[in-house]
Amino acid sequence: MTKQEILLANQQHLFPSVFHYYKEPLVVARAKNQFVYDIDGNQYLDFFGGIVTISVGHCNEAVNAKVKRQVDTLEHVSTVFANEPQAALAKHLAGITPSGKLTKSFFTNSGTEANETAILTARCYTGSHEIVALRHSYHGRSSTAMAATGNAAWRLGGAAPSGFVHAINAYCYRCPLGLTYPSCNVRCARDMEEMIKTCTSGRIAGFIAEPIQGIGGFITPPKEYFEIVAGIVRKFGGIYISDEVQTGWGRTGGKWFGIEQYGVEPDIITSAKGLANGLPIGVTIAKPEVADALKGSTISTFGGNPVTATAAKAVLEFIEENHLMINAAETGAYLRAKLDEMKAKFPIVGDVRGMGLLQAIELVEDRESKTPSPAATNAMLEATRENRLLIGKGGTWGNCLRISPPLNISKSDVDDFALRLEASLQRVMESRMAGAAAR
Ligand SMILES: Cc1ncc(COP(=O)(O)O)c(C=O)c1O
Repeated sequence: MTKQEILLANQQHLFPSVFHYYKEPLVVARAKNQFVYDIDGNQYLDFFGGIVTISVGHCNEAVNAKVKRQVDTLEHVSTVFANEPQAALAKHLAGITPSGKLTKSFFTNSGTEANETAILTARCYTGSHEIVALRHSYHGRSSTAMAATGNAAWRLGGAAPSGFVHAINAYCYRCPLGLTYPSCNVRCARDMEEMIKTCTSGRIAGFIAEPIQGIGGFITPPKEYFEIVAGIVRKFGGIYISDEVQTGWGRTGGKWFGIEQYGVEPDIITSAKGLANGLPIGVTIAKPEVADALKGSTISTFGGNPVTATAAKAVLEFIEENHLMINAAETGAYLRAKLDEMKAKFPIVGDVRGMGLLQAIELVEDRESKTPSPAATNAMLEATRENRLLIGKGGTWGNCLRISPPLNISKSDVDDFALRLEASLQRVMESRMAGAAAR
């Protein structure tokens, strides 16, 4: 198909809720390592990885060699037949969860399903129904996952299922309480107690949160936040679900899971995205006593699929063998320093935040008012495209740029990225100045 035929077929035959970045959608034809190629043969440096999904480079040879062998050996059996790839992956995961205590997995096909399973399991385990989530969160696109999501733009279809309340998050750049860290004494976390006492029955099933809020614009809470919150959640009978769809698999640097950066031991971890480097997988990993509470039988036709399970285990091995969690910490720090330099140079950069190779910049009209600038963000997307760089967008106001390159990039890739990002910021600043002068 030609580019025009592809775009026309999309327009005519996909739900209009399937949206694409850019004024003219980018039609991607192929990708290799840190590069993506469009249908016209142009090469782009990919610092977004689909959406935070390419962990070890596009079409990674070591991973794909194992995938290809598996495709020709056993492609499908479903969860009602035992098979080695699913068992081997579950065993591997049990060995890398925080304190080695989350040892049972349930495999599905997406982050949404992983969270559905986690919420169901929390309800079965506690006998309670109410779930506490955070404002500015994103947990998926099913009714339950949208009800857990704390962002109006991603809650489609009107009334959401009951049983969810949303606590205030630790959005330090825009503190919901108008306070400043650390003199605030992390009051947002302490507010959880009053919220549970006033907005729930007082017996909750659980708390679900992303350690760093992905679609929210990589909102990164201060180090004490989750420990305080976890203590309160457990006091009211709830279990702790860490949604690691974006923060898992070493992305935050030095640790497998984002929540480990906060010293909290969750009862359930959910993940998807980067686990199989682009093949569809979701996983809910729980402490055995929690997993055992999901009584009766349940099926996921494609869950634990031999091919995706093989890919996932190969990704974990690649991360281990190539010390990519360390690379995420070190190259992530190098990337962060570059972003901080750009903040010093460009007044539309209001905030830089994140951990490891999960970094965001929040764009504002000016630093005094902190008015979110979705216009500058959209202009940045177009400018980075022209500079052959792929990055993502996010934030409740659509004013954050999200940066999440593969974990195996080098510092020279970051140098290349920084040149392209800076040229784009320069272009956007100049056109804003020209626009202001013309008014
Ligand atoms: C934190 C988080 N949880 C859940 C999901 C849903 O995952 P999926 O799109 O695979 O259903 C996403 C997707 O972006 C996510 O970022």
